Amino acid sequence: MQPSTKFITLTSYKGGVGKTTSAVCLSCLFSNYGQVMLIDSDPNRSATAWASSGNLPFKVATENTATRLMAKTHFDFVVIDTPARPAEAEMQELVEGCDLLLLPTTPDSLAMKAMMLTSQSLPKGTNYHILLTMVPPPPQRDGEDALKVLQEKDFPVIKQGIRLLKVYKDAAALGLPISSIKGGKKAWQDWIELAKLSPISELINSEIS
Ligand SMILES: Nc1ncnc2c1ncn2[C@@H]1O[C@H](COP(=O)(O)OP(=O)(O)O)[C@@H](O)[C@H]1O
Ligand SMILES: [Mg+2]
Repeated sequence: MQPSTKFITLTSYKGGVGKTTSAVCLSCLFSNYGQVMLIDSDPNRSATAWASSGNLPFKVATENTATRLMAKTHFDFVVIDTPARPAEAEMQELVEGCDLLLLPTTPDSLAMKAMMLTSQSLPKGTNYHILLTMVPPPPQRDGEDALKVLQEKDFPVIKQGIRLLKVYKDAAALGLPISSIKGGKKAWQDWIELAKLSPISELINSEIS
């Protein structure tokens, strides 16, 4: 019997916090371990645009075409990118049947407040984790400070954030995986590290065991 598909959804009330970038990078990461489909359910179709060069190692579908693709092909991982500001009813749908809900947030206070509101709107018992994105380089301490605040408040935050690096914009513009971009190795290292950490490591391990 084929192993079951793992569904990973990214959502946030706030736009511009790295949902699409994280969805594409995670899809690249999961492609090292199995077949991946990214469902681009944002009407802006940013992930679809990134993939349009045909150089990403996974399938990209819209919410309209995903069912047909899934009927024909077995996917080990399905990553779902969503538009900002989901309504409460939509949130319920996003969470249902989802193995992991990721709430990306930048470490600034406005984004963090929006993320906390998003987390409060989740149905009780939702398996969600917070991913800090666009963490500015030292000596700025925004990333560390945000991590500390979230840990003190008992939020399920992933211990390692994603650094703010210019190469992400280049990768999206060129339609390439971050690891294929000149100077992208440093950025890709963050995702390699993320693969070793809970809850991403569990998803990967359940796939390869
Ligand atoms: N780690 C990062 N470092 C630098 N720029 C980033 C990073 N992550 C995302 N960006 C940029 O920030 C902008 C918003 O990111 P995006 O993933 O589109 O957010 P969302 O999908 O939440 O609206 C994009 O221009 C993207 O290239
Ligand atoms: Mg987006």
